[in-house]
Amino acid sequence: MESFLIKGGVPLHGEVQISGAKNAVLPIMAATLLTAEPCVIRGVPDLSDVKFMAQILTWLGAKVDVHGGTVRTQAKKIKGQGDYDLVRKMRGSICIMGPLLGRLKTARVSLPGGCVIGARPINLHLKGFAALGAKIKIESGYVEATAKRLVGSAMFLGGRAGSTVLGTANVMMAAVLAEGVTVIESAACEPEVIDLAKFLSAMGAKISGVGSPTMTITGVKELHGAEHEVIPDRIEAATYAIAAAATNGEVTIKGARAEHLHAVIDKLREAGVVVERKGPNLLVRRNGRLKSSDVTTLPYAGFPTDVQAQMMALMTQAPGISIITERIFESRFMHVSELSRLGADIEIEGPSAIVKGGKPMSGAPVMASDLRASAALVIAGLTAKGTTKVNRIYHLDRGYENMDVKLRALGARIQRVEES
Ligand code: EPU
Repeated sequence: MESFLIKGGVPLHGEVQISGAKNAVLPIMAATLLTAEPCVIRGVPDLSDVKFMAQILTWLGAKVDVHGGTVRTQAKKIKGQGDYDLVRKMRGSICIMGPLLGRLKTARVSLPGGCVIGARPINLHLKGFAALGAKIKIESGYVEATAKRLVGSAMFLGGRAGSTVLGTANVMMAAVLAEGVTVIESAACEPEVIDLAKFLSAMGAKISGVGSPTMTITGVKELHGAEHEVIPDRIEAATYAIAAAATNGEVTIKGARAEHLHAVIDKLREAGVVVERKGPNLLVRRNGRLKSSDVTTLPYAGFPTDVQAQMMALMTQAPGISIITERIFESRFMHVSELSRLGADIEIEGPSAIVKGGKPMSGAPVMASDLRASAALVIAGLTAKGTTKVNRIYHLDRGYENMDVKLRALGARIQRVEES
């Protein structure tokens, strides 16, 4: 297993190029199962999650070639069920269920378990499939959806925390090949869902209302092959913006789409960070002392849960009290104890973390628990005095392309080492 060794205290300076969005590319790769024709996806980040999804598609019978940021697939003949266990390993792969159900009218996958950020149920995905006429069976750790025919209907897909991103994606991918009209109320509005809808439309699907809570899908008989360029990763862009602010640096974030980052930019400005839009780029610069700031995560266009941990790392640097409230995943605070090892003063009170910022931070060995928690630890390590060792960085490699290389180019003293 590998770790990052970070010598903190260097302000980041320069330019960083943002890669394609992990959470857009995974469902788009799954969507290629909807047609027997070839598909091409460009701007694909080099991530272990992408390799993993490629393995799943291959296992299902598709031809998949991942090369130089382009994924080429052709799913001439695929199987809808079998003894595949891969879904349990990567939760994002649950989104193969919608395309399998849409194309083959049957899908069987191992039930994804919970993970460190929370329970992560799929009841809303299944509610949507059932509304399209599928029979759902859960047995021996597997979930199965089967239908003689899928028929469009109106459904409400809101849950305890609001809309569901992959639930919306999954139901959308089944509904594009259902008979008649499907209306999803409380549909997710995330840019990644819009990107998927764009790809599906390029394949011949008929979808309207994308990006609003009411999405309407008129089923078609079949879809054809398509090409697509994935949107830039707004979470990666936010992570580098926060790293620039935390280290008192100045960084141009190339290809960050400001229109996907309103909530993050707003909070950074509230915290005293200068964020300027320069065409397709963002210039992020610290303007003196940071100010404390309260943040609550919400579905899009609210503050993203995937940036909560990184924002907390930033708020450890801001004198005063910041209250960070997590409204999407109930236990997404695994980074708190590790940030505390570096000297942060944070207390958890129900769904909120109370950060008493401005305390001196010093390097220590810390353990990455999930993808975004790991990013928060890297940011904290970049600001801390001395050396921080972030263990288990395979979590980071799931969702950040070459993070160590990109940070080194910005002047950070960061090395990838084999864990001893
Ligand atoms: N929920 C239900 N029932 C469901 C589905 C979700 O109650 O059937 C609840 C969840 O428990 C949670 C909320 O709804 O409280 C929102 O979860 P959502 O379904 O939107 O999450 P997801 O689709 O499983 C995606 C991203 C996550 C990101 C969330 C929220 C991918 C591959 N994953 O997950 O990304 O945090 O949306 O924006 O797109 C990450 O990249 O680090 C990551 C975890």
